[in-house]
Amino acid sequence: MGIFMQSAQGIETVSLSNKKIILGVTGGVAAYKAAELCRLLVKAGAEVRVVMTAAAQQFVAPLTFQALSGKPVLTSLWDAASGDGMEHIHLSREADLLLVAPASADFLARLAHGRADDLLSTLCLARTCTLAVAPAMNREMWGAAATQRNLGRLREDGVAVLGPASGALACGETGPGRMLEPVEILGVLPGLLGAGPLAGRRVLVTAGPTFEAIDPVRGLTNLSSGKMGYAVAQAAAEAGAEVCLVSGPTCLATPAGVRRLDVQSAAEMRDAVVSELPADVFIAVAAVADYRVADAATQKIKKREAPLTLQLVPNPDILAEVAARPDAPFCVGFAAETEQLAGHAEAKRLKKRVPLLVGNLAQDTLGRDTAELVLFDDQGRHPLPRADKLTQARALINHLTRLLN
Ligand code: C5P
Repeated sequence: MGIFMQSAQGIETVSLSNKKIILGVTGGVAAYKAAELCRLLVKAGAEVRVVMTAAAQQFVAPLTFQALSGKPVLTSLWDAASGDGMEHIHLSREADLLLVAPASADFLARLAHGRADDLLSTLCLARTCTLAVAPAMNREMWGAAATQRNLGRLREDGVAVLGPASGALACGETGPGRMLEPVEILGVLPGLLGAGPLAGRRVLVTAGPTFEAIDPVRGLTNLSSGKMGYAVAQAAAEAGAEVCLVSGPTCLATPAGVRRLDVQSAAEMRDAVVSELPADVFIAVAAVADYRVADAATQKIKKREAPLTLQLVPNPDILAEVAARPDAPFCVGFAAETEQLAGHAEAKRLKKRVPLLVGNLAQDTLGRDTAELVLFDDQGRHPLPRADKLTQARALINHLTRLLN
């Protein structure tokens, strides 16, 4: 049993056969979307138990979820205390995944503090399975320091945070806070359940800029934000891979389920990458500085009247080095060009001897939330029209999965 989903690269099937999923619904307008999510989960083959908080029942009646899941909806810790009174323990032990959608700001706060004052929060605390939350709230509530602090804590605790998306909100405002569409949530579940197309594969990703010291307080860097590389790491993790992200300096949060190594210079990035080999896939998204300062000063350089000359020496080409190894992973390169994209990108693919190269125009991509990409491989060119970077990253992972297999 499965559901056909349209992606940028074609039709894919999502199957959740034999998976036991607890769908937690908390209080928010997006609770109506959870009904559709419940229907999709059941259609994909999952066995779904719905647990609703008291606030959720103010938005949607439990009967709706009972009809869609084919099972009674659990609403109270005290009802669930029937039998041996340990229903909350049994339920969470049997589940493969606990998915809270929508997750309100209040519920995230309770979760971050380990509260167990209703059935859903108790199940979350007693679980041994993966916990994923799909936040939905007003944009100010989403941006509030307390909410972001709680989310940081939850990510550290290994909770997968799905979304939210940006767009029109129920309150009439526009911004981040919309719950992901049910079909988008469905798409990431196989990866969370270890059943994605990259399950069992090790994927190594570089991201962000590098920083090449001039002296202890100054350096050479570039405008890379790291957004594309982080999105690629997230998409690979969603596809079920074990992901290591080697990151230059960025302000971004580590995607759920991704292990991150922080580096500064190209030399440090090269050493971190080599120390993580062997891997099945290497995706070099980082904007690595081509040069570093030959002799970085050990003390701060003082201002003088005379011009200052810095001698730059070439950095190691990490991607070319990894691709040339006898145990080379499947290598993917990125090329940010300012002109003649197709010519430069294809030349780079052949020179670095990588099977897949992702080209983009630097001025259209650097630091932005969206990107227009072209994939170059042995078969030719595959354009990916402009979309947000996570959508592009998922399309890239789909494409490379097909080439890998
Ligand atoms: O040669 P160029 O810098 O344009 O190539 C870009 C690709 O090579 C990117 O995938 C980038 O991450 C990788 N690269 C690298 N080490 C370098 C320079 C680039 O891995 N020193």
